[in-house]
Amino acid sequence: MKIYNANKIIPGLIIFLGLITFPMWYNMGKAAPPPEIKFDTPVIQQMAVKQCVLPKADMRTGHMQLLNEWRTQVVRNGYRTYVAADGKEYNMSLQNECIKCHSNKTQFCDQCHVYAGLQLGSVPYCWTCHIAPKEAK
Ligand code: HEC
Ligand code: HEC
Ligand code: HEC
Repeated sequence: MKIYNANKIIPGLIIFLGLITFPMWYNMGKAAPPPEIKFDTPVIQQMAVKQCVLPKADMRTGHMQLLNEWRTQVVRNGYRTYVAADGKEYNMSLQNECIKCHSNKTQFCDQCHVYAGLQLGSVPYCWTCHIAPKEAK
């Protein structure tokens, strides 16, 4: 194939690509500030040592695996008690355990999921079956 007038078409293409991708790179480096993650729920406020099931960094990256593991243990194996590394026991339940502490679901779970740009928005499909906490709007 012969490219006619390549010396005009190629710069033209570059400008065109630049224009259509403008919104993408224009916003680079000034992404929306991350949401402030709130832990000020009644239950967490009462905790002497404010800690989650796993260390914070592990929760941040691994809460989905933990939830999956809990679900498998409950639904397939019939176990309901999770013993953490420090010996603390948890009821392996999304709505009765996670949400007991993180009762600010929209501020906590949803806000972070929206920020992270999760395809599912705010992982709403869990809440088609599991009971979401009642929150003051
Ligand atoms: C189609 C309905 C449905 C959907 C959607 C669903 N679950 Fe469940 N889930 C159940 C049922 C039913 C049980 C069994 C409840 C029991 O035995 O206490 C369960 C149990 C669980 C458990 C262990 C018990 C408990 O009380 O939490 C976890 C953890 C869990 N699901 C997490 C999730 C997560 C996370 C999602 C979204 C990714 C999700 N589920 C989506 C129906 C559903
Ligand atoms: C006993 C109360 C409690 C329970 C139960 C609990 N959390 Fe937490 N969670 C906390 C506290 C307190 C923190 C902040 C920990 C810290 O600052 O070190 C936290 C942190 C987190 C974080 C990290 C947030 C960040 O800043 O990156 C995630 C994600 C999370 N929890 C999800 C969950 C999920 C999912 C469950 C259920 C599997 C759960 N939590 C159960 C109290 C709890
Ligand atoms: C600090 C930010 C943050 C917080 C807070 C947070 N999540 Fe997530 N969550 C994420 C990210 C990021 C992903 C996607 C991870 C991935 O795709 O590997 C995710 C994924 C998930 C998934 C898996 C969805 C899927 O389709 O696989 C579930 C279930 C989930 N989160 C539940 C929760 C629940 C319940 C809470 C509140 C108790 C919560 N998350 C709080 C950041 C957060």
